[in-house]
Amino acid sequence: MCGIVGYIGKEEALPVLMEGVKNLEYRGYDSAGFAILGDDGVKSEKSVGKISALAEKISGKRFSGKTGIIHSRWATHGGVTEKNAHPHSDCGGTIWLAHNGIVENYKELKKELSEKGHSFKSETDTEVIAHLIEEEMEGKSFENAVSSALKKIKGTYGLVVLKSDEPGTLIAARNFSPLLIGLGEGEYIVASDATAVLKHTKNVVYLDDGEMAVLTKSGHKVLDLEMNQLEKEHHVIDWSPELAKKNGYPHFMLKEIFEGPEAVENSTRGRLIPEEGMSKLGGLESLTELKEAKGILISACGTAYYAGRVGEYMLEEYAGIPVETDVASEFRYRKPVFRDGDIFLAVSQSGETADTLAALREAKEKGVPVVSIVNVVGSTIARYTDAGVYQHIGPEIGVASTKAFISQVSIFALLTILVGRHREMSLVTGRRIAEELEKIPDLIRLILKQSKNIEALARKYQKFVNFLYLGRKYNLPVAYEGALKLKEISYVHAEGCGAGEMKHGPIAMIDENFPSIFIAPQDSVYEKMVSNMEEVKARRGPIIAVATEGDKKIKEIADDVIYIPKTLEMLTPILSVVPLQLFAYHFGVARGLDVDQPRNLAKSVTVE
Ligand code: G6P
Repeated sequence: MCGIVGYIGKEEALPVLMEGVKNLEYRGYDSAGFAILGDDGVKSEKSVGKISALAEKISGKRFSGKTGIIHSRWATHGGVTEKNAHPHSDCGGTIWLAHNGIVENYKELKKELSEKGHSFKSETDTEVIAHLIEEEMEGKSFENAVSSALKKIKGTYGLVVLKSDEPGTLIAARNFSPLLIGLGEGEYIVASDATAVLKHTKNVVYLDDGEMAVLTKSGHKVLDLEMNQLEKEHHVIDWSPELAKKNGYPHFMLKEIFEGPEAVENSTRGRLIPEEGMSKLGGLESLTELKEAKGILISACGTAYYAGRVGEYMLEEYAGIPVETDVASEFRYRKPVFRDGDIFLAVSQSGETADTLAALREAKEKGVPVVSIVNVVGSTIARYTDAGVYQHIGPEIGVASTKAFISQVSIFALLTILVGRHREMSLVTGRRIAEELEKIPDLIRLILKQSKNIEALARKYQKFVNFLYLGRKYNLPVAYEGALKLKEISYVHAEGCGAGEMKHGPIAMIDENFPSIFIAPQDSVYEKMVSNMEEVKARRGPIIAVATEGDKKIKEIADDVIYIPKTLEMLTPILSVVPLQLFAYHFGVARGLDVDQPRNLAKSVTVE
């Protein structure tokens, strides 16, 4: 959460920072601010609202300087006010910093520092770090003071600090909150994620927990907090800056829904061997335990969790392996029982979600082999796992995840083939799945052609404020995901429910003002879904159905039908989710909402 960017180099810092943070705005967008260090010291501006509000506030003003920091906030401690917006500074206005994370012991530190005479301007936890560095400056160099201060902090941070009387230095540090250093020519850009540095460089160094980078115009070093210099690997990011642009679409969310077909192509490219009914996941080859695994524990959050739930059905049905899927925020706090032969699998688009990472650490500490399905190359989860599969779908910017889900489910299909074929899956079944998976991108394209019809449908239902999403088996997680999309984008009440479970409670809500969305393709649970639909109809509930092309029976029961092409039952979620993504998108737009940056949400949730 929160986006931070720092710059030191040959260019004017402010335009680089503004552009960089704009690319990170999906991480948090309730307020923003910057500090620029120029010949006449530090100048800072802050504003409540999005980056555009900050841009408007400073229009016509000049902020010259080649070192600077900027922040886009998602509030944790302290309300959304200009005072609480970052960067924060010490008493003397010398130390300035932008922070992502939570200082858990900030109350104790604030008390101690106040007793020593420090005066605080904000209600944030972050401000204590600036005062702590100020306190530690006594007889120490800038970098030594920062490291001493950080040793006193309990909690998480990705931060970037500048000091007004050291214009040639920028310090960045990380503990549990993502941070990377873009290595440009004669310049460094520190950022929460790669999209902010792409325009300048594709070469990056990822900071690990407990590390600090000291950047000057002439070079950089990475240290641990004991001031030992570390050798860090350089990574090259293979995304082009173009991928982080809307390319003519009104919103990133719509662009990313339309990138669904390429997402499947890119996630499966070179990984399918249809003639052998096999798949090849290079990243998992070294992990011999996977083939012999006795069980898989999947953990993830939000949309990635629902992708994991689809994966659970696939792996159990076709690979005959016991799978348990849990939301990471629960997994980390319950006492998971690991059995010999278990594998832990984290799923995360960003690779930075704090809960998922914590669940992963828990499994790793217990000696369980850990693997991941992650989109962002070099992200913390990707680096922390023993082996993994990258999604290769380019950046996902819309806060509501769309193409990432489709890609993750495709990768679960590859994994099912891989694990299944090492067990009892026949060549014929392996081939069948592989061949059907190859056809999926074109089938998604057919659904996308219905975007206008779905828009009309969203407008028709625009006045309703309660929706029930119903599915069974493979499409139960899709029902949850469909409901999640609508909640995120439109702020209306939407509930996912197992269609069989509906009669145990949720059906009580049904009346003519409470529409249900049935995900009812012609699969092994089709007849049951039709019966559930009749139950809703008998109670005058409006019905939208997602059904298989040519299904006339459903048309007679449902008020509205969105058709999807036929595919293998296990692959239907990749198709059935698309109309639900489009419905949520058009519904939100029809209500005049900011679908790319819904209120209260952030794309990458790096706090608990
Ligand atoms: C946030 C986002 C969701 C996302 C979830 C998990 O809540 O708003 O869209 O599904 O985090 O993110 P991850 O990056 O781990 O897939």
